[in-house]
Amino acid sequence: MFLYKAGQFLDNNLNYLNFTKAMSIAALEALKSNPSPNPKVGAALFDKNMKLKNKSHHLKKGKDHAEIDLITKSNIQDTDYLYITLEPCFHDDTSPSCAKELLKTDIKNIIIGDIDSDPRTYGKSVDYLKSNKINVSIENGVNDFLNPYYKNSNNTKELTYIGKIGISNNNIIFNNDSDEKYITNQISLDLTHLLRATCDAVLVGKNTFLIDDPKLNIRNKELDNSTNKPLKVIWWGSSIPSTTKNKYSDYTFIETSSLKQLEKILLNLGCRTVLVEGGKFVHEKFLRNSKYSLFYEFKSDFDIPNGLNIGDFYKTKLSSSFKNIDQITLKDNVLSIYNNK
Ligand SMILES: NC(=O)c1ccc[n+]([C@@H]2O[C@H](COP(=O)([O-])OP(=O)(O)OC[C@H]3O[C@@H](n4cnc5c(N)ncnc54)[C@H](OP(=O)(O)O)[C@@H]3O)[C@@H](O)[C@H]2O)c1
Repeated sequence: MFLYKAGQFLDNNLNYLNFTKAMSIAALEALKSNPSPNPKVGAALFDKNMKLKNKSHHLKKGKDHAEIDLITKSNIQDTDYLYITLEPCFHDDTSPSCAKELLKTDIKNIIIGDIDSDPRTYGKSVDYLKSNKINVSIENGVNDFLNPYYKNSNNTKELTYIGKIGISNNNIIFNNDSDEKYITNQISLDLTHLLRATCDAVLVGKNTFLIDDPKLNIRNKELDNSTNKPLKVIWWGSSIPSTTKNKYSDYTFIETSSLKQLEKILLNLGCRTVLVEGGKFVHEKFLRNSKYSLFYEFKSDFDIPNGLNIGDFYKTKLSSSFKNIDQITLKDNVLSIYNNK
């Protein structure tokens, strides 16, 4: 099976996460909506020269799956390559079986992002398509990135938390001597925005909100007009002045000092995955309570002489309770990805 690797398409920083270029186009497409309770799924169709013909995503539950939408609007040839971020569904539910619908087309080459852990599909579509002479290959890890909660989705009472931090070479997370609030480079920032797009909410603590005035939105040209808008959550340990609430009406302020209570409120808001961006106190609280499934540390290559150091607790906890599963060079930054051991 021919897998497209590099060079032909516009830069899309998902390539840094080891996605092939073609799959990163399907993945970015998936991030254009949040079809909760369904997972985010994207599809992209390429001709025999790997020229993009069409792309699609699952807009919302009850609407066509990405594959069906793509089939409907495309003239599929047997020399085409179809990239889908998740194994096509095997079962007929509110929409038809995508695997069976794909078999009615001329497609012969399908590349999927992950096997669907939903027991109604779980490998059945791959077997079915292969037994009907379709070439199917798998690029592992794509759905895991797009839908971090997914493998945990049988447990609706538990949230999936992802931690993220931007940090200097000497472990500073806030620079006292500069008005420039970003410590990391543009690729790290772009990936942060894509990470936000994989989550239902982005959360920071009160001090971060007051000091940084963060927008907490998704800033990415492809996703600008998308319907995917994670909640912007500010965790406030005490009661919030009503002037603040009124001024920032598109933010969700959660007033509680209890992590348990915070979690209950996030679940009631329909969240499945929450990206926690800090600051220091919030990260320590989540780390102490073993809440993170994944942690993304974006590190710059320079020291900051004066500022807020993330401290020993963070470093000790990350090295003792997490496994470093990936280390990716992003020009002059390094992204270290950790998962909970
Ligand atoms: N580089 C990065 O990636 C990054 C990301 C985010 C933030 N930051 C930096 O981190 C700094 C803020 O971190 P932070 O640790 O001060 O605050 P924080 O984690 O943003 O917020 C602390 C929250 O915890 C509550 N809290 C309860 N007990 C606390 C205690 N003993 N100490 C502190 N907060 C307590 C506070 O609410 P109440 O006061 O209402 O109880 C507040 O909601 C800022 O300088 C920001 O720029 C850096």
